[in-house]
Amino acid sequence: MYRISRCKEKDMEEVAEVEAACFPEAPWDAGYLKKELKDNPFAVFLRLDDEEGIQAYLQYAVTFDSSTIYRLGVKPESRRKGYAKALLDEMEKSFKDYPERVSTSTLEVEEGNKAAIALYESRGYVLATRKKGYYGGKKDALYMVKGL
Ligand SMILES: CC(C)(COP(=O)(O)OP(=O)(O)OC[C@H]1O[C@@H](n2cnc3c(N)ncnc32)[C@H](O)[C@@H]1OP(=O)(O)O)[C@@H](O)C(=O)NCCC(=O)NCCS
Repeated sequence: MYRISRCKEKDMEEVAEVEAACFPEAPWDAGYLKKELKDNPFAVFLRLDDEEGIQAYLQYAVTFDSSTIYRLGVKPESRRKGYAKALLDEMEKSFKDYPERVSTSTLEVEEGNKAAIALYESRGYVLATRKKGYYGGKKDALYMVKGL
């Protein structure tokens, strides 16, 4: 069983634990996450908890008719349980609460990130364009889009 909820400032220490487990090369720390929540009026953070506590989180932002995914991470020991899919579904459900119809969801993913690309393709995202050298000049980003 799992539960998805919207994060508040007090959640960011635990979100930072997921960051550290999922993005060890450049994790966002709790201070940065709190600032993002405070300063970005469009930012939404969803956390997913199971019996063991926080396992995953998703950050996205909706501006006008378009949503952008900024971060999605599931702790390594909790992968392939459908948690990322559940967070993406919850994000899409939230779109009905915005004044303008959200017609597009977008994201950038590193070209070699097979798990994430497979996940997004399974959720209906398609490659729109390749951004050359997006990650530190070496790796390309795939810009993926889903029409809603
Ligand atoms: C990518 C990531 C978020 C996927 O999370 P997850 O909870 O394991 O994904 P789900 O269990 O919801 O998977 C849903 C579907 O995505 C696809 N998928 C997910 N991981 C996959 C993998 N390692 N290999 C192939 N397909 C995969 C499958 O189609 C899967 O359905 P299935 O399990 O029924 O076959 C997770 O691997 C992760 O946190 N990676 C590190 C951080 C990261 O790269 N984030 C994305 C940045 S853009």
